Amino acid sequence: MVLSAEDKANVKTVWSKIGGHRAEYGAEALGRMFESHPTTKTYFLHFDVSHGSAQVKTQGAKVTDALATAADNLDDQPGALSDLSDLHAHKLRVDPVNFKLLSHCLLVTLAAHLPSDFTPAVHASLDKFLASVSTVLTSKYR
Ligand code: HEM
Repeated sequence: MVLSAEDKANVKTVWSKIGGHRAEYGAEALGRMFESHPTTKTYFLHFDVSHGSAQVKTQGAKVTDALATAADNLDDQPGALSDLSDLHAHKLRVDPVNFKLLSHCLLVTLAAHLPSDFTPAVHASLDKFLASVSTVLTSKYR
């Protein structure tokens, strides 16, 4: 997935606007994923996945912090996300199909909270960004 210069600028702008809401938005996206796609909960059997649980909040913050790192390293996502790629593919063995589900829930969450920023062009750029991150995180899955 190749991000144009405009895509990169859009991603950086949105991520700068999320600011202190990273944990909240990440937890909301995970909550949407668990509700909309219950099979994703099978990866989190050791978690309390109920709405607003402390574990979902902590995990939400980890996901959005990782995405912020990816947004800061748009020219070297494989390098920036290498450890996470090993974790998801080799240790957790998350089936790649699930990344589309979480990506969609992240997009919905951002659209709900940043409606005026979420133009069609920004939507497309964020979709490409999340697809790119997902490609890296699933690249070692066999
Ligand atoms: C945008 C895509 C994703 C990002 C950026 C992401 C990021 C992360 C991060 C940063 C961690 C914590 C790593 C650590 O503690 O060192 C993590 C753990 C984990 N991720 Fe993901 N993840 C993504 C997608 C997914 C998906 C789609 C699933 C499964 C449906 C998943 C399942 C897990 C699980 C089970 C853990 C371990 C949780 C624990 O036991 O603490 N991830 N992820």
